[in-house]
Amino acid sequence: MNYSHEFNKNKVITMSKKLLLTLLIFPSFVFAQNKVLCPTPPMGWNSWNVFASDINEKIVMEIADAMLNTGMSKIGYEYINIDDYWHADMRAADGRPLVDSVKFPHGMKYLADYIHSKGLKLGIYSCAGNMTCGRRFGGFGYEEIDAKAYAEWGIDLLKYDYCYAPWSRKAAVERYTKMGSALKNSGRDIVFSVCEWGIRKPWLWAEKAGGSYWRTTPDIFDTWSGGNAFMMSVMKILKRQRGLEKYAGPGHWNDPDMLTVGNYGTGKATSAKGMYKGMSDTEYQSEMSLWCMLNSPLLASCDLRSMNEATKTILTNPEVIAINQDKLGEQAKLISTKGKMWVYLKNMEDGKKAVAVLNTSGKEKTFELSTKMLDMEGIWKANDVWQHKEAGLLSPEATKGQTGELVVPGSISLTVKPHETVVLRLEKWVAKVGY
Ligand code: GLA
Repeated sequence: MNYSHEFNKNKVITMSKKLLLTLLIFPSFVFAQNKVLCPTPPMGWNSWNVFASDINEKIVMEIADAMLNTGMSKIGYEYINIDDYWHADMRAADGRPLVDSVKFPHGMKYLADYIHSKGLKLGIYSCAGNMTCGRRFGGFGYEEIDAKAYAEWGIDLLKYDYCYAPWSRKAAVERYTKMGSALKNSGRDIVFSVCEWGIRKPWLWAEKAGGSYWRTTPDIFDTWSGGNAFMMSVMKILKRQRGLEKYAGPGHWNDPDMLTVGNYGTGKATSAKGMYKGMSDTEYQSEMSLWCMLNSPLLASCDLRSMNEATKTILTNPEVIAINQDKLGEQAKLISTKGKMWVYLKNMEDGKKAVAVLNTSGKEKTFELSTKMLDMEGIWKANDVWQHKEAGLLSPEATKGQTGELVVPGSISLTVKPHETVVLRLEKWVAKVGY
């Protein structure tokens, strides 16, 4: 009796200790598992468009320095992502991934420490096939080993490609899920970027596989229009984003690929050996505008060390970036393509909205923007985020004053150059007393 009492008492004490321990550990465990890694679209830089296979430690460090010197880091750019071609010829005998010791003489941990010392994050690239698209060793079959190595190196993001892998969606889901879980169990927060080019509708499954964002198309090239099924122009990519807005939100984003802003036909990957001559600054500004409206990850991919003023202005406009980074996380919807003028509408936090009007034609056009077209009620004040000034008031109908003068015009008249995008931020207008 006594013994049994003692036994029960001990059991109760042990159980309460366990319960206490579980209560202490459980919330942080649950929190770690459910942590949203990209509550707003990630911002940073990727080596591919501009350097392709010619990437090395020195360039990466200089790009990190440039991200600070240009002021980009201050407005939210933080990831420095190394794409393909960082790999040694082979893995180590025990399967561990090895780095090309000529290109990266001090190894990845050294580079990650440098990047982190600047307050930035380091991303890396691998592939769900046996080889990467550049025929370096792939991640298939080595998911756990790789995720562990990346965590030890201090990697913060993995872009996972899909070359030399089976075609079916089932296989892709399995392979991405395997890597997604390996990253989750790696002991480090590593953002997972799914890159199977939108072929298997990743917007339906990539988030479940652990992805924070997924490519929606094959690769971007440095051209406004044209291209083909494997070489996407900006216009081709935009066409493919229609209807995808419902799949995006905080922590899970559609990725229409890196920006070509500032490549000017010289990107080692995006020029396709001189086939594409680049775009005008107006077109690059449109690319930036629309990527912001579409809540795309903002991954610059030009040479940040030598960008000209126009490129810097485009990449660092805080007003257009604020639209991309809006906390509500709602991707813009294409609401009209009438007259070759593409109109996008995006709802934002606190009832604000953003509107973008893209002139897809080859001629300058005047465009009347009205609340009717936007299906909005009341009076709205518009600010032009590229001109950095008020663009006027939008109201359901023109309002005249006592002497017949026009107080509020019903619509705003916009002049839009070919391939230009006007971006307006709209706020409900409150009449001032005495106005
Ligand atoms: C694929 C990807 C690109 C780039 C290259 C690297 O084409 O879609 O973004 O990563 O591979 O080889």
